[in-house]
Amino acid sequence: MHPKKPYYLTTPIYYPSGDPHIGHCYTTLACDVVARYKRMQGFDVMFLTGTDEHGQKIEKKALEKGVTPKEYVDVYVNNFKRLWERLGITYDRFIRTTDDYHVESVQKIFKQLYDKGFIYKGEYKGQYCTPCESFWTESQVVDGKCPDCGREVTEAREEAYFFRLSDFSERLEKLLTDPEKDFLEPQSRVNEMVNNFIRPGLEDLCVSRTSFTWGIPVTFDDKHVVYVWIDALSNYITALGFMNESFSDYDKYWPADIHVMAKEIIRFHSIIWPAMLMALELPLPKKIYGHGWITFSGTKMGKSTGNVVDPFILADRYGVDALRYHLLREMLFGMDCPFTNEMMLNRVNSDLANDLGNLVSRTVAMVTKYFDGTLPDTRESKPEDEELIRMAASLKPFVEENYESFHIAAAITEIFKVISRANKFIDENTPWILYKDEKSHARLASVLYRLLDTIRIVSVLLSPVMPNTMPEVWKQIGASAEETTWESAGVTDGLSANATVSPGNVLFPRVDIEKELAELAGISGAVPSVESKLAEPETECAPAVEEPAVRPVKPEITYDDFSKMDLRAARVVSCEKLEKSDKLLKFVLDDGTGEKTVLSGIAEYYSPEELVGKTVVYLSNLAPRKIRGIESHGMILAAETADGYRILGIQGEAIPGAEVS
Ligand code: ME8
Repeated sequence: MHPKKPYYLTTPIYYPSGDPHIGHCYTTLACDVVARYKRMQGFDVMFLTGTDEHGQKIEKKALEKGVTPKEYVDVYVNNFKRLWERLGITYDRFIRTTDDYHVESVQKIFKQLYDKGFIYKGEYKGQYCTPCESFWTESQVVDGKCPDCGREVTEAREEAYFFRLSDFSERLEKLLTDPEKDFLEPQSRVNEMVNNFIRPGLEDLCVSRTSFTWGIPVTFDDKHVVYVWIDALSNYITALGFMNESFSDYDKYWPADIHVMAKEIIRFHSIIWPAMLMALELPLPKKIYGHGWITFSGTKMGKSTGNVVDPFILADRYGVDALRYHLLREMLFGMDCPFTNEMMLNRVNSDLANDLGNLVSRTVAMVTKYFDGTLPDTRESKPEDEELIRMAASLKPFVEENYESFHIAAAITEIFKVISRANKFIDENTPWILYKDEKSHARLASVLYRLLDTIRIVSVLLSPVMPNTMPEVWKQIGASAEETTWESAGVTDGLSANATVSPGNVLFPRVDIEKELAELAGISGAVPSVESKLAEPETECAPAVEEPAVRPVKPEITYDDFSKMDLRAARVVSCEKLEKSDKLLKFVLDDGTGEKTVLSGIAEYYSPEELVGKTVVYLSNLAPRKIRGIESHGMILAAETADGYRILGIQGEAIPGAEVS
């Protein structure tokens, strides 16, 4: 027997600085689909995930909580692991950057890069906030102030080691633009990397720090800890046993077939990581794939914005496979993907309950009713059957090509076209009429067999996406293990002629969307917080096309609750774009009591000039919040429209300070 061919794929290692959210799920789910598919194809798969546990941010958070950094991360690492178990993620190895073997390897890698002359000692210059004890880069500092606390920063220097990234510009550009290699996908990212980062000149990379201690110590200079990327990126080889004795998989699995991540860390994977490997004279991974973001109201769903949804809640209420299906179906290759509970529930009802669930339950019910569960041998096929047969037969190569290249949504869409065609096939052939006439029973058996066999094919191809429900489908249609292998999905008429069906549970119960949305609105963590969207948008967010959402009604409040809000008319005295932010406008408002500074996340929808002199509706007594070092007082009211956010205006001349009630 030939040894199985290896296939190695990785997710990023996630920061365990908080709980995982829906945003974290997509990468891991996509890798899980491909890992399952590759295993079904007979590959020897190594699927790696893990956690990236060092750094100043975690050290600070632990200190605030009064625990050690390790105690701090242990809790969240455990929650990531629980989530992956809940979602049926079949990773083969989970690496923690605090694992001894990783620490040992990173120390050796760092030393080797130093010995080869690729790491040298220099001086790190940055903007330092003394109260926060944090260094910031020029681009992070806001108007000369610390982005965390808003206090003055000063230029400071710190001894640090640097990696000679600049030495690799030419080789990196060649690697990224080599059409034979297709190193980075989607292609659109290649230009971004080359034009924005490589051609303007790569700067050497700071790879050690002395201003915090929660990191891997540099063995030959113990004031220093290894800083971020040399520690994090090395995980992809240390987890295989590179420069450690814990595993001996390096020769088998390296180079990786694919590293998968979202777009914000493509730069590190397609520039720093290959440069490190070039310096170590190691083979490069075959592909880097960076997908879009799961967004909410156009903003990346993320810990720092707080607009997150807890995946446990959705998996518990609607089933793991429904959640897997929705995310994998909705995230189109290379695009951002808005997430709302309503979109997910619509998908559950339309695709899963109506299309797939109904096809299986109707077919199984008819075989049971008309033939006691087992079809007779006499059949009568017709030329009209050909279209469905052809569609089912050509599905496997299409799905393979698309799973292989992480176009998972495209593969699913194609599978569902066959499901729709099969449902139409029922309506065209009207089995209930065929049943009425004994002479048409051979034809009836043929129609039902075609349906069962089509269900077999689509369910095998969908099984990496919905690994819990598809085996239930196989039970219901009476398909054996041999009839549901990956290979078997490439042949029609693969189901044994006298398979016996057994009706079972409803595969995907329909949900009452309005009722569910109302209930979810009352559950903490089940809906993203809208307020946080307007208050703290992310910088690098790509606009996403948003479906208009019908929002659930919030719980009743009293008139007293309402009257606590000081809503008033305010005139826009000045308005400007906040530097280095795509999202934020900085307003000075006259609300009748004086001038107030307010930040609002509507820069995408207005140019500042058009707002000056306008009267807006202003919630003036909202507790101030510091955003990017600027204290923002109150909130300008806006409503979501088909053209994005539009501010609420007042018809007629309102005097600043006029009550809005
Ligand atoms: O960046 N949409 O860790 P991290 C899509 N430790 N994917 C999302 C997402 C969203 N809204 N939010 C998170 C780090 N992700 C580093 C990586 S690798 C050597 C070191 C996913 O916890 C996506 O895969 O911030 C993204 O790249 C990753 O989580 C970032 O995870």
